[in-house]
Amino acid sequence: METVKTISELRAARLILPQPVGLVPTMGYLHEGHLSLVRAARSECASVVVSIFVNPTQFGPTEDLASYPRDLLRDLQLLEKEGVNLVWSPDVEDMYPPGFQTWVTVEGVARPLEGSMRPGHFRGVATVVAKLFNAVQPQRAYFGQKDAQQAVVIRQMVRDLNFNLDVVVCPIVREPDGLAMSSRNTYLNPEERRAATVLYRSLSAARQAYQAGERDADRLRQIMAETIQSEPLARLQYVSCADADTLQEITGIVSGRALLSMAVFVGKTRLIDNFVIGEENHAPGN
Ligand code: PAF
Repeated sequence: METVKTISELRAARLILPQPVGLVPTMGYLHEGHLSLVRAARSECASVVVSIFVNPTQFGPTEDLASYPRDLLRDLQLLEKEGVNLVWSPDVEDMYPPGFQTWVTVEGVARPLEGSMRPGHFRGVATVVAKLFNAVQPQRAYFGQKDAQQAVVIRQMVRDLNFNLDVVVCPIVREPDGLAMSSRNTYLNPEERRAATVLYRSLSAARQAYQAGERDADRLRQIMAETIQSEPLARLQYVSCADADTLQEITGIVSGRALLSMAVFVGKTRLIDNFVIGEENHAPGN
């Protein structure tokens, strides 16, 4: 496994990789969720590139950029074991040199949900992912369904800007008690860690109601909100029942695929999670 830092080193190493190339963009501090993306890429591509970059432009001024967990050495050991060909871990100055002034802004699908709670977040994500795509030139790129809106935003960007690659979205990987894997789970103390299962319980309650015939979007949102509110350590930021493609909130009856999603503070830690309903078979990550 080769590791590189600068864009010119990356370009030189990329030139000799067997095709097709799969890219797994990450912010590091890898867990089984990331490794599931690497394994998917490994099984579908001749070579796998993993980028590790804590992208400052997708964090708001009051968010956790400074404290975001980092452990490059451990990440490299994990990736070596997975048979990754190339790891690219650029410095901030490589990605955003002085004078940087070009941004990618996705509009409609980036506005609701996370977009409304985290202004500028998807501008940072779309810009860095466009830069990763341009530098690595992968044939396939792998993202997790955990960040459901991010996946929709990136698909939209790929379509709109004619990136010549396939976006592959892999199921959420969960802990045995249902908590979706996330690097931010490490912020939780033991009591908060127990309370954090409320997101999964809340989504499961709404899905159960849907399976029992409930189709009223307001009622599904209410079931999720009430479950969250029953957990004293949790503070609900939003719950949503939205069209899974447009991400517009559903008013009235749920008829096609819908994204049930939420953001919840457990202590100071902000967690997100989602299920897709209305598919014939539920995705294994749900
Ligand atoms: O999902 C993430 O880890 C990040 O948003 C990404 C896609 C690597 C861009 O920084």
